[in-house]
Amino acid sequence: MRILALETSCDETAAAIVEDGRKILSNAVFSQIDIHALYGGVVPEIASRAHVDACDRMIDQALREAALTIDDIDALAVTYGPGLVGALLIGVNCMKGFSYATGKRLIPVNHIEGHVSANFLSHPELTPPFVCLVVSGGHSHLVIVNDYGVYTLLGQTVDDAAGEAFDKGARVLGLQYPGGPHLSKLAEGGDPAYLKLPRPKAEGKYDFSFSGLKTAFINACHTMEQKGLALPRADLAASYQQAIVDSLCDKTMRAVTDSGLKTLCLAGGVSANALLRRQMAALAQAQGVTLCMPRHDLCTDNAAMIAAAAYYRRQTTAPLSLNAVPSLKLV
Ligand code: KG4
Ligand code: ZN
Repeated sequence: MRILALETSCDETAAAIVEDGRKILSNAVFSQIDIHALYGGVVPEIASRAHVDACDRMIDQALREAALTIDDIDALAVTYGPGLVGALLIGVNCMKGFSYATGKRLIPVNHIEGHVSANFLSHPELTPPFVCLVVSGGHSHLVIVNDYGVYTLLGQTVDDAAGEAFDKGARVLGLQYPGGPHLSKLAEGGDPAYLKLPRPKAEGKYDFSFSGLKTAFINACHTMEQKGLALPRADLAASYQQAIVDSLCDKTMRAVTDSGLKTLCLAGGVSANALLRRQMAALAQAQGVTLCMPRHDLCTDNAAMIAAAAYYRRQTTAPLSLNAVPSLKLV
């Protein structure tokens, strides 16, 4: 079954074709990062307009890359939440129109489920149940994937998402949006023990909290600036990154141990982080747990993961009244 999916929940306009939820036939991504970097973050109205411009182009590109025509496609899929309402609406309406015009069914997809499903593309042998840490710009969830589309929520962030924490720390160090990858690069030459930062404890056993850590980091940077000291930027980046990664690893491994499951997956933009991947791999190996992580380009927003998720929701057909749901939950 070949599914053509469109993703427009934030600042990537992406279209992709995936076969049977596992095999990528094409994966076209137009990133709006250069447009938004000018403003230090995503400007929702500009994102919506850029999606209007790029949707058709990306769908054409996905078909061309796969050397297919619309007649070869069995179903369409679209992200309908969570995300920016205007951005989501562009994708939802584009695909409703496409579905009506072509007579192909439309499958509605939850963006977070898409991130989880990126693992099915990178690991064709992977099957539920497994524990999954989903860490992106807007979400930090720790879930058990009991079966396809069946989740138990173990924990989540009580304040900032992990990606948000990366981006806000990066801004203090004068790095461009989105700061996560830049901060990670800067940290490569730094000393993670330079600055002692708290390892925040949220109340729930598997919950995360990053706002205290973020404030401690910002205060430390401002204090140095007020004293007229040059910021040791690489050391600061390394210390901050280490604190975020320690916190993610600690809660995740605790959940894995308690669950008794032997497979752990990472998902979402932050799962592209090299330190997180390295540290989690070492911990998983020590516990005899199999670790799955999406390929780098499948960690951040893309439509292949949406097509993969749609395959496991192939019984669902969206009505033409389908609306965007900006705060759609996974569980
Ligand atoms: O999943 P994603 O592309 O979009 C959302 O659904 O939010 O995640 C984007 C987030 C941004 O906060 C970005 O800074 C972060 O993922 N990110 C990283 C890295 N690559 C992307 N954070 C840390 N290290 C990275 N290498
Ligand atoms: Zn995302």
